[in-house]
Amino acid sequence: MAQKREVWGTKIGLVLAMAGNAIGLGNFLRFPVQAAQNGGGAFMIPYIISFILLGIPVMWIEWTIGRHGGKYNHGSLPGMFDVMWKNKLAKYFGMLGLFTSSIILIYYTYLESWSLGFSFLTLFKDYYGLQDLSHMSHYLQSYQGMNNQYFGSIWYAYGFLLVTFFLNFYFLRKGISKGIEKLALFGVPLLLLFGIILVIRVITLGTPDPINHPEQTVMNGFAYLWNPDFSKLGSARVWLAAAGQIFFTLSIGMGTLSAYASYLKEKDDIALGGLATGSLNEFTEVILGGSIAIPIAVAFFGVGTTQEIANGGAFNLGFVSMPIIFQQLPIGNFIGFLWFFLLFIAGITSSVAMALPVISFLQEQFDLTREKATTVVGIIAFIAINFVVFFFKYGFLDELDYWSGTFALVIVALLEVIIFAWIFGIKKGWQELHNGAKINIPKSYYYIIKYITPMFLIILLVVWTIQDAFPTLLMEGKEAENIPYLWGARIFMVLIAIALTIMIRKAWKRNYLRKNEVK
Ligand code: ALA
Repeated sequence: MAQKREVWGTKIGLVLAMAGNAIGLGNFLRFPVQAAQNGGGAFMIPYIISFILLGIPVMWIEWTIGRHGGKYNHGSLPGMFDVMWKNKLAKYFGMLGLFTSSIILIYYTYLESWSLGFSFLTLFKDYYGLQDLSHMSHYLQSYQGMNNQYFGSIWYAYGFLLVTFFLNFYFLRKGISKGIEKLALFGVPLLLLFGIILVIRVITLGTPDPINHPEQTVMNGFAYLWNPDFSKLGSARVWLAAAGQIFFTLSIGMGTLSAYASYLKEKDDIALGGLATGSLNEFTEVILGGSIAIPIAVAFFGVGTTQEIANGGAFNLGFVSMPIIFQQLPIGNFIGFLWFFLLFIAGITSSVAMALPVISFLQEQFDLTREKATTVVGIIAFIAINFVVFFFKYGFLDELDYWSGTFALVIVALLEVIIFAWIFGIKKGWQELHNGAKINIPKSYYYIIKYITPMFLIILLVVWTIQDAFPTLLMEGKEAENIPYLWGARIFMVLIAIALTIMIRKAWKRNYLRKNEVK
């Protein structure tokens, strides 16, 4: 028999859970790297436009699809699409929502565990003495199992991964209001507090080395990010990066926002909630995330080196340059602990959301209890994560990230917009979005959602495919040694997609038979 659907306990709990879902490693690690790689001020204009034309509309759509699906006891996209689009294929398109969240969960939890590991390594000054970029980068690689100079084996990283995994599934087992909501009520304010402390520390740095490098100031770091550079607006690469960042940071196309929204009550507001959590995410990303890693790196290393650090790897700003700087600050180990622990909290409030769609799917379609569904997902995810850990050095994680965390997100979002605005119908969709709404959304968004957002997404997808996806698909520029592992990553993703598709087929067959038996 269907179990009674859980609901969020409080309004503030819901908003913080949604914000926690969005605010993650993306805000503090990915954003500064993307901004630095794409020319600072040149990045911000496409970024803001993407937020307005893609981020906000898709956010509302996902909340609406989710709350609507929840009425029919669906917490994941296959069921949600199925109730909005009377077509046998709808549920299979929804598979992609389970796919993105599950794959991202697998590698994201590992990254999150690095933050936990580094928070303690920093607090106990483990890497103190490694004062330049190359040593520190070697240290990070050693932690990741790529050399054994500083860590004898991967088991340190593995230990922190186990703890991270356990904590994630502990909260998930407790359910929506007692687990995820409690975590957010405690975690999100704490991470905001840590963020504000760190920003104050950065702003008060001034000019760390006024005699030798008077030009390296925190203010120059801010200027780098905020001086608009209109000359790069014609670059497709910058637009793709900016839109990709908006997707990742808002958790769009992951099926996690709709999963959370499915636990809303029918008359709960979504118009204001969607806008508020989207804005809170942007505040955290641009104001807090933008005021830590880049300005501090510019103050200590200068603009050119900061760009080089960012180009050298996605984690170098957060895990290589920051630790060097912490060593030079008074009580730097404590400041560093705040930084890495902040990342950890931001990570865990997002990763629990990534596990939820597939847990809800098992619960709803196969009548498992929450505990059982969580345990099953936990075991499978843990087995899968080992590939990421042990094949990390061959680019396994990057390959998963590219296809699921960048490319597939856009496809899921496009499907959602088309189903919402064109199949379910924008009129009905708009009404559904306003059901219980605490604000009136400007009518212009009616047209943006119907025409502009899908057009924007289609253009993005076409340009992306031509410019990025083909070379990536053909593995251009990859080292020969890595190629078998990258194929392995692709096969891994295909197998997961097939398994999910089979499960959807089984679930619908099962429910069909059951319905007909009752009659
Ligand atoms: N939105 C989450 C993040 O920014 C996934 O990390």
